[in-house]
Amino acid sequence: MPHETSSTDRGASSADGTANRPAVRVLPLTPAHARGVLGVFDEGMRAGNATFETQVPTWDEWDARHSAAHRFVALDGTDGVLGWAAVASVSSRAAYAGVVELSVYVAARAHGRGVGGALVRAVVASTEAAGIWTVQSGVFRENIASLALHERHGFRVVGVRERIGRRDGVWRDVVLLERRSAVVD
Ligand SMILES: CC(C)(COP(=O)(O)OP(=O)(O)OC[C@H]1O[C@@H](n2cnc3c(N)ncnc32)[C@H](O)[C@@H]1OP(=O)(O)O)[C@@H](O)C(=O)NCCC(=O)NCCS
Repeated sequence: MPHETSSTDRGASSADGTANRPAVRVLPLTPAHARGVLGVFDEGMRAGNATFETQVPTWDEWDARHSAAHRFVALDGTDGVLGWAAVASVSSRAAYAGVVELSVYVAARAHGRGVGGALVRAVVASTEAAGIWTVQSGVFRENIASLALHERHGFRVVGVRERIGRRDGVWRDVVLLERRSAVVD
């Protein structure tokens, strides 16, 4: 089922020249978006609070790491990639067939405009339609924006995984969050 939604540009005002900013469109992510997707990942990765990764993957690597379904991009008025969201299976065991892990990245220039929220809503709708019952995320404890985004969209904190891995030699805590669908049974 195609998902096309618009996010409201919260915070837009004539005072900062953003009143005429076009609405963000959320569409299925395709290989045509590869460059923009990897660019947004690179930016988030370099900021240091998004992922343990320190190298940008190739498109083939990115493609292999994420499920082919439930991938979305947020596009601006000129089809530039403002953000993306995708999921990956967490286990090959049958009992966990309906459990996936979410990744969501938004370009810094578009933070705080509801883009992340629009992407999470698209993934939630798409995964629920496919019978996936739990979407989980691992978020660095310092990533206040991501924690707020997840909690806003129905994720609960399962717990904090203390010093679970090292990024650039520094042990990091990861907050495990999950959203259990109320409609998938
Ligand atoms: C985390 C991220 C995806 C959020 O995307 P976004 O488009 O800025 O988020 P939204 O504008 O949709 O905001 C979603 C909610 O989080 C809140 N929020 C966003 N940034 C926030 C911040 N810095 N501090 C507190 N709350 C914040 C918003 O107020 C909003 O809540 P509301 O609907 O109740 O107002 C974005 O900051 C990002 O891409 N960061 C770098 C990559 C990253 O960390 N990805 C997540 C890896 S786990």
